[in-house]
Amino acid sequence: MAARKILLSEAEIPRKWYNILADIKLNPPLGPDGKPVQPEALAPVFPMNLIEQEVSPERWIDVPEDVLKVLSIWRPSPLIRALSLEKALDTPARIYFKNEGVSPPGSHKPNTAVPQAYYNKVFGIEKITTETGAGQWGSALAFACAQFGIECKVFMVRVSFDQKPYRKSMMETWGGKCIASPSTETKAGRDALEKDPETPGSLGIAISEAIEAAVSDETGKTRYSLGSVLNHVMLHQTIIGLETKKQLKKIGEYPDIIIGCAGGGSNFAGIAFPFVYDKINGQEIEIYPVEPAACPTMTKAPFAYDHGDTAGYTPLLPMHSLGHAFVPPPVHAGGLRYHGMSPIVSQLVVEGIIEPKAATQLDSMAAGVLFARTEGMIPAPETNHALACVIDEAIKAKEEGKEKVILFNWSGHGLIDLVAYDKYFAGDLQNFVLSEEELLRSQKVFENFPKPQLIKSR
Ligand SMILES: Cc1ncc(COP(=O)(O)O)c(C=O)c1O
Repeated sequence: MAARKILLSEAEIPRKWYNILADIKLNPPLGPDGKPVQPEALAPVFPMNLIEQEVSPERWIDVPEDVLKVLSIWRPSPLIRALSLEKALDTPARIYFKNEGVSPPGSHKPNTAVPQAYYNKVFGIEKITTETGAGQWGSALAFACAQFGIECKVFMVRVSFDQKPYRKSMMETWGGKCIASPSTETKAGRDALEKDPETPGSLGIAISEAIEAAVSDETGKTRYSLGSVLNHVMLHQTIIGLETKKQLKKIGEYPDIIIGCAGGGSNFAGIAFPFVYDKINGQEIEIYPVEPAACPTMTKAPFAYDHGDTAGYTPLLPMHSLGHAFVPPPVHAGGLRYHGMSPIVSQLVVEGIIEPKAATQLDSMAAGVLFARTEGMIPAPETNHALACVIDEAIKAKEEGKEKVILFNWSGHGLIDLVAYDKYFAGDLQNFVLSEEELLRSQKVFENFPKPQLIKSR
């Protein structure tokens, strides 16, 4: 019988993260004056040790011992061959998934929450604010803050706050505070509510609220933390792909195709970047980030300079963007409802190193149900987007009669997202189609911003 689980020992947890900034070039973030932002300008928002990591050109960065100690609660995560899914699809493809759902909060998010809490603690920070979409990130940060004795406050996008009440319960169990966004606690929240009292909220608005709450705290001991998009987040997540490489090596496999769902880009980056390194150095691999068709950042929106949040508190980032004021339709994959994308992931799209795909809500849920009924584990609605693409590729392999190796990131479990499954079975979920006019209208917000250069890293 073919091996199902490929495991590593704790001693094999990677001791260094891979920093892709050593291998690709990015346009710089820009300040309000249109000039590149100097790292010190970010000091009221992030601790300096994380800002240094954000701009570091070093290819390998040490994982601190205290971070490894916490990561070892669930790492190394298993790599699993999806034998039953392969059988159901009658495909010659061999499908492997990295199970990031085994972490205490249930997703890949603590891979960066833990180092972020650690670096804040070392810097003397006592409280961290953040936003969360589906609640995976907020609960991951609450868990990490509990490990290092830091206060945590989470602004949770209203639609998910209502759909997923148990995420708040998790945050509170770990000692965090969670409030619905937009809230009346910040100017950004009050402005959003004034504009539309019934708004479902968005990650862009929640980010504005969390930044405002951090920088307006008079103690000087509060900072903000972001669960995706930024370079240091992508860096921390590479532990996923680095472990996977070791696991595949043990069984003499190498992927032909790598797939991850993409909201801000971090779990995709985590599994893909160590292999992007190989691709840049001549290896042939297809690498697909998959986003929701209802929030088609990479597949439909331009590469532009835009703010990472709705109120415009962040620098201008070079990324694919639907416009910082865009409020995505209330799909159940709350963690994928983001108007922008990681600048690194965007740059890889621009350079043609990776190829974005989009999946609809209904196709994704169907893929998640097939996975649950074959492999047993119930995936998060976000993860289902990766699965929809995996299934397409496995069927294509069958049609072409090719024994492809497909690797994907199982970014989280869906045990707190069962409302999405209930609604799917009741026929209450729908696909959202954005018209060309809507897309063009939402992009007007960055019409007059500077344009990023089309850089070729090599
Ligand atoms: C399970 C899961 N997968 C994926 C994502 C998308 O985020 P990212 O693109 O940063 O991995 C989220 C975000 O909340 C998530 O909870």
